[in-house]
Amino acid sequence: MSEIKSVAIAGASGTLGPHVLKALIDAKFQVKILTRSKKPGEFDAGVDVVEVDFTSVESLTAALKGIDAVVSTVAGMAIKTQTVLIDAATVAGVKRFIPSEYGSVTTNPKVEAFPLYENVFQIKHHLQEKANSGQLTWTVLACGAFLEFLFAAGAAGLLDFADRKATLFDEGDNRLSSTSLATAGKAIAGILKNSEATKNRVVKVSEVILTQNQLLKIAEGLRPEDKWEISKVAASAVLKEGLVEFSAGDFSFPVISKIIKGTGFAGETYGSAYDETDNELLEVKELTEEDLKKIVAEKLA
Ligand SMILES: NC(=O)c1ccc[n+]([C@@H]2O[C@H](COP(=O)([O-])OP(=O)(O)OC[C@H]3O[C@@H](n4cnc5c(N)ncnc54)[C@H](OP(=O)(O)O)[C@@H]3O)[C@@H](O)[C@H]2O)c1
Repeated sequence: MSEIKSVAIAGASGTLGPHVLKALIDAKFQVKILTRSKKPGEFDAGVDVVEVDFTSVESLTAALKGIDAVVSTVAGMAIKTQTVLIDAATVAGVKRFIPSEYGSVTTNPKVEAFPLYENVFQIKHHLQEKANSGQLTWTVLACGAFLEFLFAAGAAGLLDFADRKATLFDEGDNRLSSTSLATAGKAIAGILKNSEATKNRVVKVSEVILTQNQLLKIAEGLRPEDKWEISKVAASAVLKEGLVEFSAGDFSFPVISKIIKGTGFAGETYGSAYDETDNELLEVKELTEEDLKKIVAEKLA
């Protein structure tokens, strides 16, 4: 039996947050949402929603009284602010903290010095300090790239399905773990149901390991008449370009995307494919080739 009964979610109104909220409610946790500002009708009536000041330990401590676990799904730009949330959690007596991270390669020490990743490492160090002094326990969920993002429209994903264009990273065979938003939500509920087995460690889930060539082959099999325009880039060159532009003060999405893809799409270099996972513990079912075919077919339609 898990010692976790009541859970507070920070960031429930975002992209991942609603999936976590649903999974926690489905798993019968008692849920409280912490938000910067309440918007009418945003959450189902009956869900406990409190407005908090994420910069104030006092505000957060008051909201966290009686809460066993905090799941943070705050925006990437707010990751650093979680130190205040962690401090408040320890004051309020919260037992488990799951920080907003949910990355592909973000637990690999090789990326710690890169600009986008340093914040998640600072948070992990802060949590470890709290754990060392017995103030709380933590779990980081590494779930790979969100499946929805890898199949996003246009050039943002692994392939540009609509325009039949592929920019292959290296040779297109770099492997990458991926998990859907809904399954990441269920994995978080699974962590809290298995609090002892997931204590003070990185937990990995991977619904599927993908390569660009694998998807291209499925697409070509489904639509043999279609011609794909294929180009290649070196993942290391994309990363280097992103790092140079970022350090020159360009924090735009295309630059951030170069750093994310230059690491996440670089295969073994930063360990983006999880061959060892906690799928079984967290009851994550892996996608089959048929499931993938269905997703690709929808994208080609
Ligand atoms: N693996 C992947 O492929 C992948 C992809 C995207 C994101 N992620 C990670 O997943 C996590 C959640 O991302 P997301 O896309 O779901 O986040 P999001 O939608 O951008 O934001 C989530 C929520 O954060 C809350 N928030 C609190 N403080 C904030 C602040 N200062 N600025 C902006 N929002 C703030 C907001 O809720 P309130 O307004 O209710 O306070 C917001 O709705 C992040 O750690 C992100 O890095 C992973």
